[in-house]
Formats: sequence, C-alpha cells, structure tokens
Amino acid sequence: MTVESQQYIFDTFNKANQGHIFKYYNDLNTDEQVQFLNQLASIENPSKLVSTVTDAIKYSSSNSSSKNFTQLPNEQTASTLDLDPNTSQHWSELGFKAIADGEVAVLLMAGGQGTRLGSSDPKGCYDVSLPSHKPLFQIQAEKVLKIQHLAQNKLKLAKLPQIMWYIMTSGPTRKSTEKFFIQHNYFGLDSNQVIFFNQGTLPCFDLSGEKVLLQSKHAICESPDGNGGLYKALLNNGILEDMINKNIKHIHMYCVDNALVKVADPLFLGFAIDREFDLATKVVRKRDANESVGLIVLNDDTKRPCVIEYSEISQELAEKKDPQDDSKLFLRAANIVNHYYSVDFLAKMIPQWISSQEYLPFHIANKKIPAIDLKTDQFYKPETPNGIKLEQFIFDVFTSVELSKFGCLEVDRADEFSPLKNADGAKNDTPTSCRQDYLKRGTNWVKENGGHVDEGAYVEVDPMSSYDGEGLEFVKGKTFANGDIV
Ligand code: UD1
Repeated sequence: MTVESQQYIFDTFNKANQGHIFKYYNDLNTDEQVQFLNQLASIENPSKLVSTVTDAIKYSSSNSSSKNFTQLPNEQTASTLDLDPNTSQHWSELGFKAIADGEVAVLLMAGGQGTRLGSSDPKGCYDVSLPSHKPLFQIQAEKVLKIQHLAQNKLKLAKLPQIMWYIMTSGPTRKSTEKFFIQHNYFGLDSNQVIFFNQGTLPCFDLSGEKVLLQSKHAICESPDGNGGLYKALLNNGILEDMINKNIKHIHMYCVDNALVKVADPLFLGFAIDREFDLATKVVRKRDANESVGLIVLNDDTKRPCVIEYSEISQELAEKKDPQDDSKLFLRAANIVNHYYSVDFLAKMIPQWISSQEYLPFHIANKKIPAIDLKTDQFYKPETPNGIKLEQFIFDVFTSVELSKFGCLEVDRADEFSPLKNADGAKNDTPTSCRQDYLKRGTNWVKENGGHVDEGAYVEVDPMSSYDGEGLEFVKGKTFANGDIV
C-alpha cells in the first residue's frame, strides 16, 4: 500500500469522526498496521457509512402502522390448498421441463450465525435427531438429487439433468460449511454443481451509532451484512455471470433452516414461469399474531408488494383481524423465505438495488459485541447490548417489482415449513419441533399410500425414496414401527 493510500485512509476516517480507531496504531507492528489498513481500505466511503447508520436508526424507529398495508390482490396469488388438479399438473410439468432443460438453479442462504439456536456450527450441519441422523444440508442435497432423477424419468432423458446449487456463506460459516460438504462427499451430488460464495460484512457501531467498535487494537468489529447482502455477493463473486453463462433462467432461493423445504419445487417454479412473474414467493398462514415471521403484503399507497418484518411491525397491526372473517388475522401471509427470481430480472435489477439505499436500507439490531473498551484499553465481552449490527434484508427489494410481475403462492405449513430457530426448551421452532414435523409429514405419506404405521409411531421417509409423497406405492400393506426409515 502506498504512503498516499495510507494517508487517504487516515484522512477519510478522521473526516468521518472515526479517529478513535487509530488510538493504538503507533503501537502496532508493521504486519498489524498493514492488516488494519487493508481492512479499512475495504470501506469505500466512511462518511457515507456513518450517515447510513443514522438513517438506519431512523428507519428502524419508523412505525409500520403509519403506512397503508393491505393484503395482496387475488390476481397475484394462488394457493396449493385449493388448487385445481389440472393447474397443479400444468405448473409441475413446466417446472420439470425447466429442470430438464438445465434452466433451474437453487440458491441457498446459509450465512446466518444461528445465535438463537445456540450452536456454533452452521445451521445446515445441525442434526435434529431424525432416526437417520441426516443433517439439514444432507436432506436438502438429497432433495436436489431426487428431483433431478424425477425430472430425468418424467422427461425420459438419457442423461441426469443437473441443478446448480449456489450456497451463500459468510465469514463465520464458510470454512465449516465447505469442510462439511467435502467430508460428506457432497452428499452424492457432483462437486462441480455446488458453488460456495461469501456475503460481505459491515462494521459494527456503538449504541449511539456514531463510533465504529474496535475488535482488537488492529481490527474493527464487523458482522455479516444480512441476507440482503445476497445481491451484492451474487454480482461481486461472479455468480450472476456464471448463471447467465450456464443459460440458467429460473432461481429457487431458500433459507437453510427449514426442515421441510421443497428444494427446486417444480410446482412453484411452474407457477412463476406460467404467469411470467419476475419474482415470486411462498407463504403459509401466520400461526398467531406473535409468530416471528415477516408478512408479505401490499403497500396500498405505492401499489407495490413488500414485507413487514416481525421485528418492525406494530403490535396493533400484527393483531388486526380480517374484517371479512374475524377468526383470521388481517395480514397473515407469512414469509417462509422461499423466493423465485427470473435471472433476466436479477441481471437488470441488481446493479440498481445495490447502488441505492432506497432499495436496500440498513436495519439495525442492538447486540452484545465483544470489543475494546477505549477507556480501559481492555477487551471485554458485554453482558448487555453495547452496540449495533447493521443488516440488509433480502426482501426489501420487493418494492421495486411491479405488482403484476409479483406472485405469491400459499402452501400448507405442515408440508413445507418447519424452521429451526431456537434451542430445545423454547416454545416453537426447535430441533424437536423440526423432527416431529418432518416425521409427521413422512408418516402421513406412508399412510396415504396404504402403509400401516403402529399406533402413536412415526416413520422417516428418506428424501431419496420420495420428494413429495410420490413413489411410495411399495409401502402398501406393509407395517412400520416407530423410527423405521422408509
Ligand atoms: C427470516 C425472514 C422472515 C421470515 C423468517 C421465516 C429475513 C430478513 N427475515 O427471519 O421474514 O418470516 O425468516 O423463517 O429474511 N442469513 C444469511 N446471512 C445473514 C443473515 C441471515 O445468509 O447475514 C440467512 C440465514 O442463514 C437463514 C436466513 O438468512 O438461512 C434467514 O435468517 P434468520 O436470521 O434466521 O431470519 P429470521 O430472523 O428468522
């Protein structure tokens, strides 16, 4: 690094009122100084960043009840709960055809640190104690394998079609995720079809939002930039370009912690393809007013789709009843982070999204961030929140989609959504609830296919036996005991 660029870093950070981060600079050895300056050089415009934090504080305190939110219009929605069989078959066929033509990729967000779950491993490595002890990554990988085989059979292809699987990790999850895949031989997938890439990071601030925190005397505190960092990461890591080069046209994006996820679901893909949506999303009925899920809604003022995140909704709006039917919540389309994107749309929009705060604002979360205390010069681990982490949310860009190009498919929670969020002992969304939901779904499939399952018993249906309840005719007339694997 030249003397001029070093000076430039000092000047820009001092100008942004961040001179405190250089308090120990003269005591550092040369390697530490270089390391520190390299870290700082990755922040293009410190003054802009600081004003961004101020905006973020404003944004997070703006009240959701002040906006005019309502349900999406029927023309943009469909529900698998009352879908006629012909439409269902048509959409599935479209999805399978796209898979067979190599036009589908799966995008997994696996950069979260799973703080609420309390495990230091990436969530995808988690074993929810199914009889097979398959971790989430394995279940998802085998769903990909299975759907490839189903597409091959349905379209009578000589060769197995391949679905590219792009996995977004973060600094904290990258190494262990990649190692896990290598150790398990990519769970039977071709290693070339799995591509890992990292999301970016953002500096952490003190609670006032004015000062960047120091992690050591030669490093500032940083954290992953939230799942909305996906878009920048797709561009900066050449993933979008790779998709275009491979002639991929449709993306199924999902998040790692859903034990029931239907990876590359042909029906969902077909729903979006048939209706020529740029972006689509799956929802389930919100369980109750306090469930920690975002809501897919329409902003009635702008006539654009958007998501109200659970951390930012007012209690009043969360509890509001549907005037047509007061047994239901008014806003109840719960975001399960299963999104469809057309690649053409992403290619057109990503440059716009990442260049404007309007599309990807920063959300703030107060957190306990181990840091250097500048008064005592000591490193400390706080017991209460001492700082702010900045995050972008993947769905904030939904407001840039024309309503007619946005689709929302309601699906059955029991079939498709059981998230792993909390450690056992919590009321919901735990390893135990994931295991139970997974086993219940499989057991239902077995019973629907004429299998006998002992009273009170649950069986596990292996993803390689069935993707979605199909292909289980062989269980007819057989009896299964608790813990059997079909
Ligand atoms: C998320 C959704 C919420 C939805 C709920 C359903 C967002 C912002 N919120 O909330 O609307 O109803 O899931 O379960 O999408 N991740 C990264 N990098 C990060 C942070 C997260 O890749 O920096 C990934 C996680 O690995 C995970 C996904 O994003 O796959 C969701 O993250 P999580 O923090 O668990 O989201 P929730 O707060 O539960």
